[in-house]
Formats: sequence, structure tokens, C-alpha cells
Amino acid sequence: MRGRFVTFEGCEGCGKSTQLRLLSEYLKARGANFIMTREPGGGEISEEIRKIILNGKYSAMCDECEALLYAAARVQHLKEIIIPALEAGKLVICDRYVDSSLAYQGYARGLGTEFIESVNYFALGNYRPDLTIFLDLPPREAFERKHGADENDRMERLGLEFHEKVYEGYRKLLDKETRICSVDCRGAKRETSEKIIALLREKAIID
Ligand code: TYD
Repeated sequence: MRGRFVTFEGCEGCGKSTQLRLLSEYLKARGANFIMTREPGGGEISEEIRKIILNGKYSAMCDECEALLYAAARVQHLKEIIIPALEAGKLVICDRYVDSSLAYQGYARGLGTEFIESVNYFALGNYRPDLTIFLDLPPREAFERKHGADENDRMERLGLEFHEKVYEGYRKLLDKETRICSVDCRGAKRETSEKIIALLREKAIID
């Protein structure tokens, strides 16, 4: 039987990395058959594309190039890592996926959802996530937690106004797609982690 596919989304500084680490520890302790991967990246070629996309020296990169590079990294990641794992019956947990492109490039950059959907044709075909968990922390609160952005990261340094648009983009996706569930991340880390595990159980992704 094909494995289940779960993606995690959220704005900068929402605590996604910590939550994925806690979830990974939990699944390992229970002997779950899963892989955890990330976008952009997840495999050798896609990690190389990631370095180009996020490199702070490429301030001249146009929005269309950015969107196409994310899509290129994604299709390679899908074919090389995600599909084989799903076909082997594994649970695939992915840190960001096509909703990131819809929120960041489609909405915040203003390229529109149609363009993003068309260049992400492969990710939107047979391999849509079964469940997407949106870690909800408004960017203003995330920025306060984080004490400033990494200036060498082309996306992170974009500033609060941009990240607020990303957040709005995610809220629109949440209204449109029942596949996406939101988890409030304002509480303690352990509390958020428990909410995520409860949601995965409720959706019959884990038992
Ligand atoms: P990363 O350091 O992994 O950020 P985070 O810990 O917030 O996930 O960098 C990924 C960056 O790329 C992040 O700023 C979000 C952005 N991104 C897009 O703009 N579009 C996409 O399709 C994806 C996958 C990521």
C-alpha cells in the first residue's frame, strides 16, 4: 500500500524545525516507517538548487526565476526521494512543499496562483499531500521571538511586510483547501508538539 504524505508549512520563525525534530524523535521512538525530508532540497541535486535560491549574493534574481528554481528542485525531489518512499509504503514528512510556492511566489511575490500551479504540474498531479499542517504564528510574533533575520539568506532578509503577505497567502490557502489544517504555535514547544501528534492521530496518519 502506498504510504501517506504529510507536509508542514509556516512562516519564517514559526518553530517548524523544532517541531519537526520533536516529531521525528517521537516517530523514531515508536519504530515508525517514515522519512523526513525538506524543500527546497532533500536530495543532492535539489540541495544544489537550494544553495543558488537562498544565496544572499543573488539579489538580481527575478521572481519568475525564483519560482522556476523552486519548482525544479521540487520535481527532482519528488521523483528521486518522495515517490520511491511512498511506493515503498513509507510515511513521508516534508518540511515545505507546493503551498510554500503558492504563498511566497504566488501570493507574496505576486506571480499568481495560476502560474505557480502550471510550473508545479508534477507536484500537483498524483502526489498531492494527504495532509498539510500549517504552523500558525503571525510573522510579527515570530520576528519578536527570533530577534532579527539572517542577512545572508535571500528569503529571510525580505522583512516583516513581505512575510506578512506570505502569512495572508497561507490564510487564503487555508480557507480554500480542506487538506490544510492549522495548529496554533503560540504556546510552549511541547504543547504544540502534542497538538501535532493529536492531529496526525485524528487524521489516521499514525496510530
Ligand atoms: P529554510 O531555511 O528551509 O526556511 P524555513 O526554516 O523557514 O523553512 O529556507 C527555505 C526558504 O524558502 C523559506 O524562506 C521559504 C522559502 N520557500 C519559498 O519561497 N518557496 C518554496 O516553494 C519553498 C519550498 C520555500
